[in-house]
Amino acid sequence: MRSRSTARTVIAAFAGVLLAASVAACGNSDTGGGSGDGNDKIVLGFSQVGAESGWRTANTTSIKEAAAAAGIELKFDDAQQKQENQIKAIRNFIQQKVDVIAFSPVVESGWDTVLKEAKDAKIPVILTDRAVDSADKSLYKTFLGSDFVKEGRLAGEWLVEQKKAASGPVNIVELQGTTGSAPANDRKKGFAEAIAANPNLKIVASQSGDFTRAGGKQVMEQFLKANPKIDVLFAHNDDMGLGALEAITAAGKTPGKDITIITVDAVKDGMQALADGKFNFIAECSPLLGPQLMDLAKKVKAGEEVPARIETEETTFTQEQAKEALPNRKY
Ligand code: AHR
Repeated sequence: MRSRSTARTVIAAFAGVLLAASVAACGNSDTGGGSGDGNDKIVLGFSQVGAESGWRTANTTSIKEAAAAAGIELKFDDAQQKQENQIKAIRNFIQQKVDVIAFSPVVESGWDTVLKEAKDAKIPVILTDRAVDSADKSLYKTFLGSDFVKEGRLAGEWLVEQKKAASGPVNIVELQGTTGSAPANDRKKGFAEAIAANPNLKIVASQSGDFTRAGGKQVMEQFLKANPKIDVLFAHNDDMGLGALEAITAAGKTPGKDITIITVDAVKDGMQALADGKFNFIAECSPLLGPQLMDLAKKVKAGEEVPARIETEETTFTQEQAKEALPNRKY
């Protein structure tokens, strides 16, 4: 009697193990791509532009933290501001059969081939922060990021208002972002359109500082040598503006007074310079895209429809507003 019941217990336990194993096997085949480790964790391949600015560092932190909070496995690649590295990373993600690919394209052009490869592999792509100029919009599911033309326009409109009483020429120098990138192209466009309202406002020099402090400093030094009268600097991001501060001070001029400085981003260092009176105006560009990106990754993986364009909410800051906002600034 006793040995028969022991045998029954062993058989039941064995059957339980078999059942659990077959459930796990079903789980594996259901994941269809992904980590292949038997759980349903979404695997997101993300190709980041690089680490060129305070904005970019904050953006990377936001994406890594949001992925961890959402239970998404993140495969992160830093392209060091090179398009060929981003293309290589995207091809690796395709090979690894990730569930979703997201990337912030360093430049606007030249993505069609690799995006087509992702589409053929049935891996949905999300653009974050920067756009591509592909005519075929079916190559990606959505674009999450700022309206860069608007940022440039807001910067220009503020300047038009400040200089409305100017009776003579107002000489502007412009530090552009990375050549061929969406924020450089769009901010330039928006700013130029806005300042066209006052013919006294003239861009006398415009060159790329590649969105870096070192680039901003170096190009500003050249601007100062070549242009005896500079009234305004429009820098496409805070970091270039911060680099330019060093060049302006070294040239014996007072930033924020002798030269009006307008930038974009509103990262902490930029906001500090604004609160200290060294910058005069900042159009905000938010890097905190992580949580929205994770929501979108879940939705596209589930096959849900998502809006083709999701625009980030942003504002602008004067010196007074920067003083108020600084203590609670998150990046
Ligand atoms: O694409 C966003 C821009 O890229 C930010 O304004 C700049 O700081 C960054 O490098």
